[in-house]
Amino acid sequence: MEMKNKNINGHFKVLKLPRFLLHYSLFLLCFTIFVPSQAFDYADALSKSLLYFEAQRSGRLPYNQRVTWRHHSGLTDGLEQGVDLVGGYYDAGDHVKFGLPMAFTITMLSWGVIEYGKQIEAAGEMEHALEAIKWGTDYFIKAHTNPNVLWAEVGDGDTDHYCWQRPEDMTTSRRAYKIDQKNPGSDLAGETAAAMAAASIVFRKSNSHYSHLLLQHAQELFEFGDKYRGKYDSSVGVVKSYYASVSGFMDELLWAALWLYKATDNADYFKYVINKGHCFGGIGWAISEFSWDVKYAGIQIIASKLLHEEKHSQQTHILEQYKSKAEYYICSCLNKNNGSNNNVDRTPAGLLYVRRWNNMQYVSSAAYLLTVYSDFLQNSQKKIKCHEGLVGHEELLIFAKSQVDYILGSNPQNMSYLVGFGPKYPIRVHHRGASIVPYRENKGFIGCTQGYDNWYSNPKPNPNVLIGALVGGPDCQDNFSDERGNYMQTEACTYNTAPLVGVFARLNELDSTPLRASYQRNTY
Ligand SMILES: *[C@@H]1O[C@H](CO)[C@@H](O)[C@H](O)[C@H]1NC(C)=O
Ligand SMILES: *[C@@H]1O[C@H](CO)[C@@H](O)[C@H](O)[C@H]1NC(C)=O
Ligand SMILES: *[C@@H]1O[C@H](CO)[C@@H](O)[C@H](O)[C@H]1NC(C)=O
Repeated sequence: MEMKNKNINGHFKVLKLPRFLLHYSLFLLCFTIFVPSQAFDYADALSKSLLYFEAQRSGRLPYNQRVTWRHHSGLTDGLEQGVDLVGGYYDAGDHVKFGLPMAFTITMLSWGVIEYGKQIEAAGEMEHALEAIKWGTDYFIKAHTNPNVLWAEVGDGDTDHYCWQRPEDMTTSRRAYKIDQKNPGSDLAGETAAAMAAASIVFRKSNSHYSHLLLQHAQELFEFGDKYRGKYDSSVGVVKSYYASVSGFMDELLWAALWLYKATDNADYFKYVINKGHCFGGIGWAISEFSWDVKYAGIQIIASKLLHEEKHSQQTHILEQYKSKAEYYICSCLNKNNGSNNNVDRTPAGLLYVRRWNNMQYVSSAAYLLTVYSDFLQNSQKKIKCHEGLVGHEELLIFAKSQVDYILGSNPQNMSYLVGFGPKYPIRVHHRGASIVPYRENKGFIGCTQGYDNWYSNPKPNPNVLIGALVGGPDCQDNFSDERGNYMQTEACTYNTAPLVGVFARLNELDSTPLRASYQRNTY
């Protein structure tokens, strides 16, 4: 990520639960909306979204690398510190390998495959999805060199941003930074544990040895993070201006425990989620944002799904509280909580709008959570109660689809914010590699400031299309300026695209079955 202080303080909305009137008479006004048959090729969007992860690869690229404007890079990562940290993903338009957002990216890709594996398989993209996950988890295995040591970052934002170079030419510092017992980082350890636990579920059938290995790392990392508590940005100072953990580590510890519970079925992890639900904010925070930093809504949604399993009948009291917060999140996206402070803003054309910098990350994560919750409501034959009334599963999916369709081109700019999709998309993406002549065409070294002079400042389109990248997106008025220097809008990040993989697969499945929505209005 290019900018500093990506988190703006005060992004928590501490809010009370919407209260419902207990006695009311309910009149249902049902009508049906037929959404016009699919305007977008979601299968194409799915394929492209997975290509993006190949463009972000660091390390030695394999023979079947499809994004051919990229080449090997970062081959000495970790060398200075005597550890092999070759591999993993560049985070965004720069070349730092940031552990926390990388782990969140892998958790979301894995969750997408867990929920929508059937649909991804049907679209013929399972192999690519597994490769995208494994490129991350292979790196986490390397980075977790000891039960209580995890390498947190390679390179640093300040020196990296001093240069505009292809990754293949990189001359900036590749110093690696770690967390350990004396320098803890429960948020980073927790998110990496969550990613590896979720990925262990993904690989259970196809590669059981690998799945076991991931699970073992996940368990150790969780234990490390839980035993030695602390925020990783206090231990790894260089990350502070880029990916400071504003929400702290309690959300990541709950998140990790929940994913470990899903991966192992071990009741100890479940007890952790139940017993710490209150102290760690899981049942206390009602939040309208789900991101690489703030995991509460994801925790609450997964916990809600446990409510309906027989074996959890002793803990329904706590699970119900998780669920009410999950539904707060959903209702806030749907604009159906009580009052504008409790709802997510929208642009005039209807895009969820959380903040100026890289707003699309919140849109894609919301589209994912809404899609998952919609399927959950449908399967459990339930509706949710928002302040504005009862909401059925169709409405959640229709709204998620509207956000995805906005991303793909249904917007005032007629612009697909998913690069390389459709006839019009950003052509000056803020991305070092994409904006410079490909290494395979021109192997001549391009220096630090030479890159700024000859390529960054060049008004022409990028020579390489960063296919499948979801850029930061438009401003609060649906305006978008396709300038390389406009990093708030034209930079993409791995965690922007990751949640969309599952959503594209789910929407692709809808292809032949039009959505029917029964809206219900309560009259008190
Ligand atoms: C909705 O919010 C208003 C303003 O804060 C408040 O007066 C009202 O009691 C709330 N209604 C419910 C049902 O919570
Ligand atoms: C987008 O497309 C619509 C319909 O074709 C057209 O009326 C509008 O002018 C276009 N807007 C832009 C910014 O190109
Ligand atoms: C957004 O675009 C509209 C229409 O082109 C223009 O009127 C408005 O001033 C722009 N807003 C901003 C904040 O740039």
